[in-house]
Amino acid sequence: MTSWDPAQYERYSAERNRPAIDLISQIGGKPAEIWDLGCGSGSVTRMLAKKWPAAIVHGLDSSEEMLTQARRIHGIDWVLEDLTDWTPPSPIDLLFSNAALQWLGDHENLFPRLADAVAPGGTLAVQMPRNFGEPLHTLLAETARAPAWRHLADRLTRPISVAEPAFYHRMLRSRFETLDIWETSYLQVLGGPDPVANWARGTAARPYLDALGEAAEDFMADYAARLRVAYPPLEDGTTLFPFNRLFVLAVKG
Ligand SMILES: C[S@@+](CC[C@H](N)C(=O)[O-])C[C@H]1O[C@@H](n2cnc3c(N)ncnc32)[C@H](O)[C@@H]1O
Repeated sequence: MTSWDPAQYERYSAERNRPAIDLISQIGGKPAEIWDLGCGSGSVTRMLAKKWPAAIVHGLDSSEEMLTQARRIHGIDWVLEDLTDWTPPSPIDLLFSNAALQWLGDHENLFPRLADAVAPGGTLAVQMPRNFGEPLHTLLAETARAPAWRHLADRLTRPISVAEPAFYHRMLRSRFETLDIWETSYLQVLGGPDPVANWARGTAARPYLDALGEAAEDFMADYAARLRVAYPPLEDGTTLFPFNRLFVLAVKG
């Protein structure tokens, strides 16, 4: 299982949280019980609890490192569990997930299972990256295929888990009364040297950092050199990093 580093992840918290803020702003109603699936270090779970202060809020994650950080936030039920086979104890008013379900495969079965866990009148709200054709990901796979790394890293290249928007529409339209699916491309302006490599250290590159041990920094230097060509710094030292996200907001009748 991938290890997580909350401090590295939160390095770009303003940029990473923006899609979550945009998704939460679209959710209506007064949910009595909320589950945040793949809650990580809990910063987004805290936003949910703040918007609905009367709700019982649970944050679920399979990473002990992330939950250790999350537990510093009080008033939320933190649950260490793997989502792969998870079903809630009873139907839920708001099932929420930000930037987590892309780590699970088999969306064909996962999304109907999550839809079935939503109570009548309840909401499923999900945000996932859909940028797997971008250099951030293609250059990670390219670096892993380079002769220096192939023996170590090639097996870590993951299949693309997030499908076309229409795939989610087909699966969910008969299960919800209203279904709103959209994409947003954020043009992130990142500062400092090798910001895209540093961004990847918090997420996409984590499985490689875990597996490569002492070789991880050499691997990252190779990957960063490729990223520098794909995302060249501007004259003012900042780097533009397009960040495409898929949103699903579904409400039951
Ligand atoms: C990119 S972080 C997002 C964290 C949080 N939702 C946020 O928006 O800040 C992805 C999280 O998904 C969790 N995750 C990945 N696979 C999981 C699984 N099978 N079960 C539970 N959590 C999982 C990871 O541990 C990690 O904390």
